Amino acid sequence: MNLRRYTQKDIQRGARVLMRIEANVPIKNNRVVEGGHGRLAQVVPEIKKLSKKGAKMILISHLGRPEGKSIKGLSLRPVATQLSKLSGLPVKFMPEVVGKSVEKMVDTMQDGDIVMLENLRFDSREEKNSARFAKMLAGLGDIYINNAFGTAHRKVASAVAITKYLPSFAGDLMAKEVGELLKPFKAPFVVLLGGIKLHTKLPMIKNVSSHSSAILTGGGIAVTFLAAKYGKPLKLDHEVISKIEIKTAEHLLKECAGKIFVPIDFRVLRHGEKGVKTVHAREVLPEDDIFDIGHETGELYRRILITSGSVVWNGAFGKIEDKRGEGGTEAIAKILSGLKDSRTVLGGGDTVTFVEKKGLTKKLNFVSTGGGAMMAFLAGQDMPALEPLVVK
Ligand code: 3PG
Repeated sequence: MNLRRYTQKDIQRGARVLMRIEANVPIKNNRVVEGGHGRLAQVVPEIKKLSKKGAKMILISHLGRPEGKSIKGLSLRPVATQLSKLSGLPVKFMPEVVGKSVEKMVDTMQDGDIVMLENLRFDSREEKNSARFAKMLAGLGDIYINNAFGTAHRKVASAVAITKYLPSFAGDLMAKEVGELLKPFKAPFVVLLGGIKLHTKLPMIKNVSSHSSAILTGGGIAVTFLAAKYGKPLKLDHEVISKIEIKTAEHLLKECAGKIFVPIDFRVLRHGEKGVKTVHAREVLPEDDIFDIGHETGELYRRILITSGSVVWNGAFGKIEDKRGEGGTEAIAKILSGLKDSRTVLGGGDTVTFVEKKGLTKKLNFVSTGGGAMMAFLAGQDMPALEPLVVK
């Protein structure tokens, strides 16, 4: 896959560069909490580089899933603050997505200025891949650069429709991500799959299973498989897992027989009891609050991982937002950091932030800014946002 790149002549002094970035990042108390391997830290060098060349940088992104509504807690204002901190350059925030005031503001930009627009998903047309909306965005720039690998599996206006209206290129970060993930994964190839919703990862599990030797599950995904394996109505975040999800999990367990590993024990908080305790998978009760994978599972996964040739990891293995659910994810991160002969790749916003906070990203071979996108790419699924950037 050869992505279209810009050259010096595409970016003259004063050119308006519309850059799609992946700023779907964890925010707590109005502050971005990610570290040096984070989505913002990885894109800052190119923003700085182009700003120093005199380009007017107009940054666009989504944050969370506001579904077309303006939600204060999902504003990109803290992202502008963080980008300014990381780049050492002023990054102005524009509290609107498109429209007259945005156009006016862009008209007043000086060479080298950087501005971050408000959350694209505050406008429902973004996720509809609306041509009209894309045209309005395109009107703000002279060229378009996509650096949002994390959104490359989504067909959205700011990544797909927009490429019809501006000369469009892959940015440095996008090219680096794709280049890294195109390198062949040495066998035995092991996939670590956590996170919450099974249905978002379904198509990918089937595809990945055909070229991996094992899929080790954790987090909500594992709980769904557990419900399917033992026919129990288990809960995820206090909601009973839907029958459709359980059916799908049953199907996958059959179809990918022997490849999908379901944890053999879990850390649960039992109704009426005080502390979190370890129970065998078969003993998990429908009313249990499941926090994490258990130690035996960690040991089983360690034995598989130490013989791997390459590993890809996406999604937390427990409720990492709570101390009681951190252990499994931390244990996996430690195992991966200790692997000497295996190529280790980690992706996904929250998991990356967590592993980095524990100081365990340093020994990994590659930290991707993509979560679902990384898995979709590796599974050979369609990548609508890459498609228009490919040199044919
Ligand atoms: C991600 O964090 O994986 C991307 O930003 C895509 O977000 P989405 O799953 O809400 O489309």
